[in-house]
Amino acid sequence: MIVLKTIDEVRKQVKAWKEEGLSVGLVPTMGYLHEGHQSLIKKSVEGNDRTVVSIFVNPMQFGPNEDLESYPRDLEADSKLCEETGADIIFNPEPSEMYADGFCSYVNMTGLPDALCGLTRPVHFKGVCTVVNKLFNIVTPDRAYFGQKDAQQLAIIMRMVKDLNMDIEIIGCPIIREADGLAKSSRNIYLTKEEREAAVVLSKAVKLGEQMIVSGERDAYVIVNSMKELISKEPLADIDYVEMVNMDTMKSIDKVEGNILCAMAVRFGKARLIDNFMKTI
Ligand code: PAF
Repeated sequence: MIVLKTIDEVRKQVKAWKEEGLSVGLVPTMGYLHEGHQSLIKKSVEGNDRTVVSIFVNPMQFGPNEDLESYPRDLEADSKLCEETGADIIFNPEPSEMYADGFCSYVNMTGLPDALCGLTRPVHFKGVCTVVNKLFNIVTPDRAYFGQKDAQQLAIIMRMVKDLNMDIEIIGCPIIREADGLAKSSRNIYLTKEEREAAVVLSKAVKLGEQMIVSGERDAYVIVNSMKELISKEPLADIDYVEMVNMDTMKSIDKVEGNILCAMAVRFGKARLIDNFMKTI
């Protein structure tokens, strides 16, 4: 697998591909790749002539007391997965390559980041938007692939691309789950055996919420409350939020109608895990 460390190398490679008339897909990641990432890479390989996977643990999107230092890293295993899945190059820059001395330009969105994860992670989406913008400028992909597990991130990136007239198609891909329902996440590695068992309650809450809507419940408060009650029965779960919002505005809703996102963040020991479902009613 070709691993490029510098922006110049990536630019040269992409320029050569574009001169041949080849399309380019980008899968932005922070590495420690799992089947969720793999599904994005597969989609990119199917939909483009060439696929770039970026692996960069972006310091800018971590708050001061978050897990930047301990975030899991394994470039060797990631390279193997990328190779097997048909990616063409990995872009794996050092932080100093992405943020040179004197760096002071940011993408700072208002509105959509001021809800859900943005409330307890105030710098997170500024860091995400800035790095994704930079990756788009470096790789100039035709298409970029993001998981629906990070539904707020996906909505924010779609909005940024629209607002800033970026000529890139953003493709959201479904959540990939373990056999027992737990959404795949690089942070699942933090879970102890007991926490891993307890964390299944998240997908159970997702199922409960979805079933209530299928059964005709339209009161968002009733649904969210039932989901919270279920999660709270699990002693190892510490709820950050469970919320029902409008998918386009990220504003809380009372009634289930239109494009809705029901999202949650829950801590199990060191791991803060997210899960969600989306529906159009
Ligand atoms: O979803 C992630 O892994 C990150 O937020 C992303 C999009 C790669 C930006 O660092």
